[in-house]
Amino acid sequence: MAVRVLLPPPRRWFLLSSLLLVVAAAVPVVHGYGGGGGLTVGFYKESCPEAEKIVRKVVAAAVHDDPTTTAPLLRLHFHDCFVRGCEGSVLINSTKKNTAEKDAKPNHTLDAYDVIDAIKEKLEHKCPATVSCTDILAIAARDAVSLATKAVRQGRWSKDGNLYEVETGRRDGRVSSAKEAVTYLPDSFDGIRRLITRFASKGLSLKDLAVLSGAHALGNTHCPSIAKRLRNFTAHHNTDPTLDATYAAGLRRQCRSAKDNTTQLEMVPGSSTTFDATYYGLVAERKGMFHSDEALLRNDVTRGLVYEYMRSEESFLRDFGVSMVNMGRVGVLTGSQGEIRRTCALVN
Ligand code: HEM
Repeated sequence: MAVRVLLPPPRRWFLLSSLLLVVAAAVPVVHGYGGGGGLTVGFYKESCPEAEKIVRKVVAAAVHDDPTTTAPLLRLHFHDCFVRGCEGSVLINSTKKNTAEKDAKPNHTLDAYDVIDAIKEKLEHKCPATVSCTDILAIAARDAVSLATKAVRQGRWSKDGNLYEVETGRRDGRVSSAKEAVTYLPDSFDGIRRLITRFASKGLSLKDLAVLSGAHALGNTHCPSIAKRLRNFTAHHNTDPTLDATYAAGLRRQCRSAKDNTTQLEMVPGSSTTFDATYYGLVAERKGMFHSDEALLRNDVTRGLVYEYMRSEESFLRDFGVSMVNMGRVGVLTGSQGEIRRTCALVN
């Protein structure tokens, strides 16, 4: 079957979407759960001057050993911020009395906790009780994505080897609930309206949604996350008709069963450890892995951005940094709120 590429929208539509973007940008960002402001670039400059250097060293070593480590480090920060805000609740262990976020179904495939623990151990040695676990997640995500970006690695993007400057000064929360993770984390079968609502509830715009979805340039998925798209989709369609048929057939061959939890599928075949704009080309060709990726084509603003980023990687990389900073501000605890956990998996 011929591959159907959605054509870029007409000029009239571009003007409308640009106007909507300006309006969206003018809407004040709401940060829930207290905190909000109070983050700064270089928060640990005096209290722990080597904090960011230490994080970078551990992340770089982990990525050097296994380049696939970049994806779970980026995803951890997202899953932290979307439940109770960026306050490290994703790292807390379950107890007899409480099932924590870590053990919620959408978090079963999270990884790289060992890298965060290794960073925390080094930081506690150097500057005890100073650097929060949630800040470690934010810095490690920035470092992971920077190390995966060719232009950054080759020194063509910035002098400091970073894709963007990360804000710090967050403090750790004391609560973690699996139920909340199920409620607040976006689902791979979400449609565009649901995604927009979920992001808006965190003070994030349509633009943030479109650009942060580009994180799916990195990493892998497992069959259960896409099984519904591949077989018995509806009474009329065996396969999700919004997924390119040839691509779907290839995925079906790899995913023999909906319960197959071991097969790994690269989000961007052949390029899952390189952070670039290739994801948008796939989405435009109806080869986005998830229903939620394809959903970006269902709204004028997000669709316009898919085409913009497909054409301009520079524009994607620049906007990605801005949206990561926006996401990193969601629901933060600052000042005297929360605590600085000594062990990231345990409340003090
Ligand atoms: C827009 C809504 C989103 C949905 C519905 C979604 C859903 C998912 C799902 C289902 C997986 C694969 C899980 C598995 O089968 O193992 C995944 C992987 C991933 N997600 Fe998302 N995601 C979204 C947004 C984001 C954002 C905003 C980021 C980061 C900024 C992100 C980063 C990643 C990464 C890096 C992976 C690969 C992880 C790995 O290889 O270990 N995602 N996502």
